[in-house]
Amino acid sequence: MIKAWPKHCWNLSLQVCLFVLVYACAQDKSRAELIREEMSQENGANAQSKLVISWEDKIDSRRFGLTPNPKIDGKTLAEVISSMTAGRDDGQLCSACHNKDEALGDYGLPVAKNAASIDFDPSIEVGTTRKAKWKGPDGWAKRFIANKTKPANIKAVMQAWVDGGCK
Ligand code: HEC
Repeated sequence: MIKAWPKHCWNLSLQVCLFVLVYACAQDKSRAELIREEMSQENGANAQSKLVISWEDKIDSRRFGLTPNPKIDGKTLAEVISSMTAGRDDGQLCSACHNKDEALGDYGLPVAKNAASIDFDPSIEVGTTRKAKWKGPDGWAKRFIANKTKPANIKAVMQAWVDGGCK
């Protein structure tokens, strides 16, 4: 019976098939695009909900997915970096190794060993051999985060400060 179809019928059914195929592909593509859009929106949301902390915010290790740590919890970046408190698990102040007489890794504040730099301001240039601010693209914060010898938990907090725009 099909054999009896005239040529134009064959042409028509071929056209219908092609149309269905093209239509299905087009649908599929837009679905893929939709999913891609959805995913990029999710990424955007993640970027917005990045963990941020300010210089004066009290640190809570649990916010960083870490177990509570009385050595640093309840303290601020301001207090740690100014050596008013240690913050480090080994209990050493930053100024134990970074002071006016000893500037390990080129970094030192103009204070005596183990002394605090009260009113320390991350937006003024500090350093003995190399001068830089704590904030900013080439600031000490960025170098601290990139340095393999620094404690991971303090680096995570520092990263959250940088992510929040160093406020
Ligand atoms: C026990 C000594 C010691 C203590 C305590 C210490 N540091 Fe360091 N720090 C070093 C040494 C050593 C280096 C150089 C590391 C290297 O070779 O990269 C350094 C490097 C640095 C640098 C420069 C990093 C770079 O790559 O340019 C910064 C900034 C810094 N320390 C900040 C701090 C802060 C802030 C604290 C307190 C939370 C601290 N350090 C506590 C020993 C110490």
